[in-house]
Amino acid sequence: MTDNYTVTPWEVKGNIDYDKLIKEFGVSKIDEALQKRIMKHTGEMHRFLRRNIFFAHRDMKFILDEYEKGNKFFLYTGRAPSGNTHLGHLVPWIFTKWLQDKFDVELWFQFPDEEKFLFKENMTFDDVDKYLYENMLDVIALGFDPKKTHFIIDTKHAGLMYREACKVAKRITFSTTRSAFGFTNENNIGSIFYTAMQAVPAFLPSIIRKKKMPCLIPHAIDQDPHFRVSRDVIPKIGFYKPASIQCRFLPGLGGMSEDGKMSSSSGDSATIFTTDNAKTVKNKINKYAFSGGQATIEEHRKIGGNPDVDVSYQWLTFFEEDDAKLVDIYRKYKSGEILSGELKKILIDKLNAFLESHQIKREEARKNVDDFIYREGK
Ligand code: TRP
Repeated sequence: MTDNYTVTPWEVKGNIDYDKLIKEFGVSKIDEALQKRIMKHTGEMHRFLRRNIFFAHRDMKFILDEYEKGNKFFLYTGRAPSGNTHLGHLVPWIFTKWLQDKFDVELWFQFPDEEKFLFKENMTFDDVDKYLYENMLDVIALGFDPKKTHFIIDTKHAGLMYREACKVAKRITFSTTRSAFGFTNENNIGSIFYTAMQAVPAFLPSIIRKKKMPCLIPHAIDQDPHFRVSRDVIPKIGFYKPASIQCRFLPGLGGMSEDGKMSSSSGDSATIFTTDNAKTVKNKINKYAFSGGQATIEEHRKIGGNPDVDVSYQWLTFFEEDDAKLVDIYRKYKSGEILSGELKKILIDKLNAFLESHQIKREEARKNVDDFIYREGK
């Protein structure tokens, strides 16, 4: 293939062509009609929908049909602990929180603590345990309701999950996983089995609640191969085929052409973590955020900047709620009225305001972790 991008559950890089990805993956574009239909229930359209950051789906119509008949769905998403949380990770979770509030539904949040242990050569379970805790704090800090939110940790809830994972695994051949994930004879057998574990929370709540319930999975588009495979299997074992809704990646600071997903493996400096302090955020943006500005101030005033490639502007499309403000910034940057340093400053202030309050909630979350972890009767 001549594409200069890769999107798999293990690797995301390059200049991603999302329209092409829709066709390759076989997901459907979220069109205006669907946006409106969602809005009928939510009363407002989240900025991630308005700006096509959540851009694709599978079976959203089924979810809404059932919801309109009074058959509520549950939400399912997850995070494989493998490092500290960065801002890109928050994107699907922020949207999931909004869906939970607007539809008043339960969320099952999986922490597959075996996933990165199996897939990453040097990852130990001790490392994973540390990140698991840190990652849980970030999820809680976003404000999920503990009564309606249940954390599933694969090795801790193995007794609940393993039997269900076997039901899935029995119906997936090596040949299927090979074509969905590109596995070869060199992959370890744990990684080949793993997709069965990621399938389980899409129907486990139906078992726990003793009632067949529709499932909606908000996730970044790279996770789709897992659900493409499990969607074929889950109806065969007696549950609804899970629906899903997919988002794009927050571009890396270094520019979208180099790093589609904000990858923490490309060095900590090019990534903003939820625990970074105001000074670090300022330094990182000033130093690393790819600029669409001109080489000199004179030239910039004359020709103007290019917001479409400017990472600070792209980030504002994720984090600035106000459409009018965003349009104004776009226009002023393009005309040369705003300089790159000024644009960066707008982003720095926006991120630091968000992080200041996130970090307070994150500290408070330490007291509440146990309230979120699923236990019988919860
Ligand atoms: N595989 C995901 C990761 O690498 C974690 C995950 C588990 C997940 N279940 C999910 C992500 C459901 C989205 C939706 O982080």
